[in-house]
Amino acid sequence: MTTLETGRTVGAGIDRVDAPLKVTGSAHYPNDFSLPGMVHAALVGSTVAAGRIRGIDVSRAEAAPGVLAVITHLTAPALERGPMTLLGGSPPAPMQDDRILHYGQHIAIVVAESAEQARHAARLVHVEYEAAKAVLDVDDPRAEIVENPWGLDTQRGDIAAGFAQADVVVEDTYTTPDNTNNPLGLMATLASWHGDALTVHDSTQWPHNVRTSLATIFKVPESGIRVLAPFVGGGFGAGLRVWSHVILTVMAARQVKRPVKLVLSRPEMFTSVGHRPNSVQQIKVGATRDGDLVAIEHHGMSSVAMEDDDYEPVSFGSVVAYACPNVLTRDRQARLNIPCPGSMRAPAEGQGNFALESAIDDVARAVGMDPLEFRLRNYADEHPLLGLPWSSKALRECYLEGAERFGWSRRTPEPGSMRDGRWLIGYGLAGVSYPFYQVPCQARASVRRDGSAYVRSAATDIGTGTYTVMTQLAAELLGLEVEQVRFDLGDSDMPYAPQAGGSGLTGALSNAVHTACRRLVQEFLDVVADDAASPLRGAMLDDVTVTDGRVHRIEDAAQGESYADILARHGLEELSADGRSTPPQSEDLGMALAGAFGAKFVEVRIDPALGLLRVARVVSAIDGGRILNEKTAASQIIGGTVGGISQAMFEETATDRGTGRIANATFGDYLMPVNADVPDMEVLFVGGPDRATAVGTKGVGEIGLVGLAAAIGNAVHHATGRRIRSLPITIDQLML
Ligand code: MOS
Repeated sequence: MTTLETGRTVGAGIDRVDAPLKVTGSAHYPNDFSLPGMVHAALVGSTVAAGRIRGIDVSRAEAAPGVLAVITHLTAPALERGPMTLLGGSPPAPMQDDRILHYGQHIAIVVAESAEQARHAARLVHVEYEAAKAVLDVDDPRAEIVENPWGLDTQRGDIAAGFAQADVVVEDTYTTPDNTNNPLGLMATLASWHGDALTVHDSTQWPHNVRTSLATIFKVPESGIRVLAPFVGGGFGAGLRVWSHVILTVMAARQVKRPVKLVLSRPEMFTSVGHRPNSVQQIKVGATRDGDLVAIEHHGMSSVAMEDDDYEPVSFGSVVAYACPNVLTRDRQARLNIPCPGSMRAPAEGQGNFALESAIDDVARAVGMDPLEFRLRNYADEHPLLGLPWSSKALRECYLEGAERFGWSRRTPEPGSMRDGRWLIGYGLAGVSYPFYQVPCQARASVRRDGSAYVRSAATDIGTGTYTVMTQLAAELLGLEVEQVRFDLGDSDMPYAPQAGGSGLTGALSNAVHTACRRLVQEFLDVVADDAASPLRGAMLDDVTVTDGRVHRIEDAAQGESYADILARHGLEELSADGRSTPPQSEDLGMALAGAFGAKFVEVRIDPALGLLRVARVVSAIDGGRILNEKTAASQIIGGTVGGISQAMFEETATDRGTGRIANATFGDYLMPVNADVPDMEVLFVGGPDRATAVGTKGVGEIGLVGLAAAIGNAVHHATGRRIRSLPITIDQLML
């Protein structure tokens, strides 16, 4: 199916087309926008995690300087709950009653002339609670357990019979903590009503979802709502859902009849825009003494908020990772009095891979096999559930080329056998099979009289490079220079685009842009179909190609003419065409749709006397299908690698078990790597375009993170003989 033949512009590691805007400060992020008459909002968050509001006194806040309105559950209008969607459902509508479901829950919004006045007045809102004992632990017997929440539990073969054949079985519990996404850009919303029409600037990864959700929530026509997000200061999943603060800002703007801006504070970011929920995972893996996997059983338990349905199937990745005949996976959620979780970079995979790839190493060692050799021996040449060949899979090349680059052959198998002075050295690796995720997407392409092109779709670029790679792709497909193409996004008035999430946007959008550009060339052929003056008269799309702004016959490049000439001769200012992509179906293609694959190789150095753990080197070998820009794609993997090191060794959102308060909700307290914690990271891309789609890109947004926790844990084991089963890996776990 892959039809993109050339590689003139596509693939080249060009600089970001939006870089000049960013470095000169002219890229406008949501909180950079101002409107005439704009006023500012601040939130009041609950200081208890469960119970009721017995009384709320807003009189001092209302009397404070500059205050225009204080809205609470007593005065808020009734709201519908937004629609539920995969990766982007709406949490419960805010301020609809007196119940408190979590610490930090928004219980009032204050609007004032200045942001400082709003924040000051918010502190004057006096709340009396009837506090209840919060449910904060997944093993609290009061926690409601949601069984098989997504219908994704799987069973293949006969798990009991599989374990009966095993010569070696490892069975352990792994835990991962809550993590908070923490994009650098504080999330902001600016809402402005004109009658029933509404314009919203928002830090969202999905403008169309904000539009649809707000139409539902406020019962106004979707056609009057415009959502803008030309630049977003990072997301990591925090911008996938339509959060309470967005809804409250829109509500406040309607009440005060002025544009209202709200910017979350950093502590509010920890309770308002999702987080990676913690997990407790039981994993059991069995193999024969020859090193054949015969059974994998993986149970995941994750936390979820009251009345929420966040999507986090942590065990599901274990189904397709290996050619193992007997597999059982099962996920449950425990309902707690916590802020709503949400997708955080590689949701579910990030947690599940840590347990699976740690256990795989333990089994390999138990059968006396090199961990790389063990993974290659149990390689899934076809999709283990569907029994179909993969649309692409170069995981074997990831392992082999990554191992070569890393120098895996220098590894001596015995734990503690490699040293450099006082440092113990450990080599570890992990494999990653990232799931395929693509949803429908649309784009529109135009070529104007001056020969330039304008291509757009309501997608977002959350720092990943969407502007750049789509500009390159359109330039390639339209035979133009990058400088002649403008790609625009971040506006819900543009053709529909899905979320920048699930590592799926680049795949979906590139196929939509491909279709739009091909149709646009067809439009030009249609215009000259009966044009006796045109050397392209009667030409079919397959007969022509485009070079230097000219459509010409493939067999004779002289037989052609420029876009500009065709438009001028026919008195047209521009031609446009729409394209859409619908995700392919495995059954139709006879192929299992593949996401990205990767192998991560890590060297750690440990000072056993001090418990110091340093990541010394990382090599990531990635099969991401077609790479549209080797520089931005490598940047994605490098950023994800830092996120993976962060998950493995630093990040833990600490909840006070008494009050449900987030105890480390600042950048001073929430640990993450600094430059000194981040080593040389090498990225190599292997494999080629995926066969299932026209452009054949698979998305590299999340695979960079996955596998680091297991690879670091495996390297720590190799260095010390100690298996760490609880993230983050900290000094106290390493003191020998
Ligand atoms: Mo991603 S966590 O799907 O933004």
